[in-house]
Amino acid sequence: MSAPLIIAMPGNEAMTQALARTLHADLGSIELHAFPDGETYLRFLSDPAGRALIFVCTLDRPNDKILSLLFAAAAARELGAATVGLVSPYLAYMRQDRRFKPGEAVTSREVARLLSGAFDWLVTVDPHLHRYGSLAEIYRIPTRVVHAAPLISQWIRTHVSNPLIIGPDSESEQWVSAVSKDAGAPYTIFEKARRGDRDVEISVKKHRGLDGRTPVLVDDIISSGRTMIEAVRLIMAQGAGAPICVAVHGLFADNSDTSLAQAGARVVTSNSISHATNGIDVTELLASSVRELAPMPARDSILNDSG
Ligand code: R5P
Repeated sequence: MSAPLIIAMPGNEAMTQALARTLHADLGSIELHAFPDGETYLRFLSDPAGRALIFVCTLDRPNDKILSLLFAAAAARELGAATVGLVSPYLAYMRQDRRFKPGEAVTSREVARLLSGAFDWLVTVDPHLHRYGSLAEIYRIPTRVVHAAPLISQWIRTHVSNPLIIGPDSESEQWVSAVSKDAGAPYTIFEKARRGDRDVEISVKKHRGLDGRTPVLVDDIISSGRTMIEAVRLIMAQGAGAPICVAVHGLFADNSDTSLAQAGARVVTSNSISHATNGIDVTELLASSVRELAPMPARDSILNDSG
């Protein structure tokens, strides 16, 4: 069995190269081109025939990416790939996980249907599982979820003395409690009321004093940044210094990275989405999950092949 062939969709080159090194996979490539009318041209520059293919495509700003990804997976099959898997460190559309108002599309299910139809397996990092218990509720292919919490705890242990971990809303408690346990630090959870995409109010129900601790806000996603910015304001209104904001996925819509920096916060994210704030590396965890799902040659044969 040959080594898997791993291919970066645009913007995923750094993660793909890191995964290729860790997995001893061959780096493949495709050519993508936008025609003047906006349609996509796609061509394999590496032959996928008979290979275990791994595409790497994080799905922030997903609408521009999903169609090319589906074309790539379908073409790989037509060209004879043995299997076609997807590493999508940030999995999009997971927050629309029910019909909040009559008539709404439950887009998490639709994206799951599209990706399940195109790929044999999926590996991702901390998808936003709030009302779904697991990805198996909507994905009908084998999936593995990598949890960044142990790496976040390790980052906090190494970089912050005497931390208080703070979750900005009840949804964050699942990540915050795991991080706090691992980091050996206490945690508290704020309350959030969201009135619109960019209209968020954060409040404190049960006040837990900072007692001289360094506030570390932890959440899965920073999108518009309103959740973190309002939480930063609340903490600073209590006379504390600006907190450190740690998120698994830094989407940074509306230039919220700049707004958070202007509010005085230090921001740290994982490299599930490539950004200047990346301080937490999920490559090894992703690679371990890929090894469970992608057909891989025995480690000995890789070492022998590479001399
Ligand atoms: C909410 O459900 C998530 O856990 C995040 O708190 C949220 O997505 C952050 O969004 P924003 O940065 O737009 O406030």
